[in-house]
Amino acid sequence: MRIFSGIQPTGRKHLGNYIGAIRQYVEGQDRAGASRHESIYCIVDLHAITVPYEPVELRERLYDTLTILLAAGLDPQRSILFRQGDVPEHAELCWLLSSVTALGELNRMHQFRDKSVAQRELVSAGLLFYPVLQAADVLAYRAGEVPVGEDQREHLELMREIARRFNARFGGDEEILVVPEHRIPPVGARIMDLQDPTRKMSTTGGSVEGTVYVLDDAMTIEKKVKRAVTDSEDPPVIRRGPDKPGVTNLIDILAACTGREPEAVAADFTQARGYGDLKAAVAEAVVAELAPVRERYDELRGDAAALEAILAEGAERARGLARATLTDVRAAMGVGPAA
Ligand code: TYM
Repeated sequence: MRIFSGIQPTGRKHLGNYIGAIRQYVEGQDRAGASRHESIYCIVDLHAITVPYEPVELRERLYDTLTILLAAGLDPQRSILFRQGDVPEHAELCWLLSSVTALGELNRMHQFRDKSVAQRELVSAGLLFYPVLQAADVLAYRAGEVPVGEDQREHLELMREIARRFNARFGGDEEILVVPEHRIPPVGARIMDLQDPTRKMSTTGGSVEGTVYVLDDAMTIEKKVKRAVTDSEDPPVIRRGPDKPGVTNLIDILAACTGREPEAVAADFTQARGYGDLKAAVAEAVVAELAPVRERYDELRGDAAALEAILAEGAERARGLARATLTDVRAAMGVGPAA
């Protein structure tokens, strides 16, 4: 079984990306290694160009993102790490899969709706096509498992539908494409903005004060967590619940960072007289989680040649796998000469 996931090289990666996704990538690498499977992680530059961007910045942010993945524990000897744009099979498969994707499905995607209203000058066709390229990313590797945060559930459902439809239309008796399963973590799949805990933490649209970046220093993290919006319940009660989004988010962050159940974490604070103790514990746990990543990042980020070498080797390996799928897909669709 193959594990595949993708991450955008846009903005600065935050605690939501880290808890919801990056930590599961590392866990996937360990699991794949133990069972001689493959873990494949792709930095999706072709997805990043669907909204306005600066070409020079894109390359720098790509290095930033790769370095964060390495600093978090991904190892190019054990996982395939590559840049999407280096493997043209993704774009080709995207086009081929567009023939089994309904326009109405793409129009209904929440991410498309949210992102398109935010565009002032141009809603690119690429933004509409974003989920088809994402489907191609995964299906090109016949991956069985896709670690993502909660916000990607809809894209994963569409990807599964595209694979099923492709197999039904072109597969005959064969499963040419693998229908993948998502892997959404039980805790921390949707980390919320600390200043507005009804909105998810995000690079676009969130608040800087409410977003903890992976590369924030300890003092900045402490400041952001201590100013987190909670509620005015008097006396304060530390429990999870839909009526307490701020406190729930803090409990979930603490649980995710300490590897404990949210209920057990909340039970530690039954005697607390305010939210200060909870915030102090959260700040400490987040700093403990992110400080080593930041240190490793500083060591690795300066060597662009070394980063390029990792990407080049990853792309070579990825291409070998993707090409095999594309050969089958093209043959099944009648594209190109007969084999
Ligand atoms: P990106 O870079 O926007 O997000 C990367 C991962 O972070 C997760 N995530 C969160 N998890 C918990 N709480 C949050 N507040 C939070 N915000 C983001 C996302 O769910 C994601 O897993 N579309 C993908 C990129 C992609 C991809 C793929 C993913 C392209 N091709 C193929 C899987 C398979 C994305 O949102 O990236």
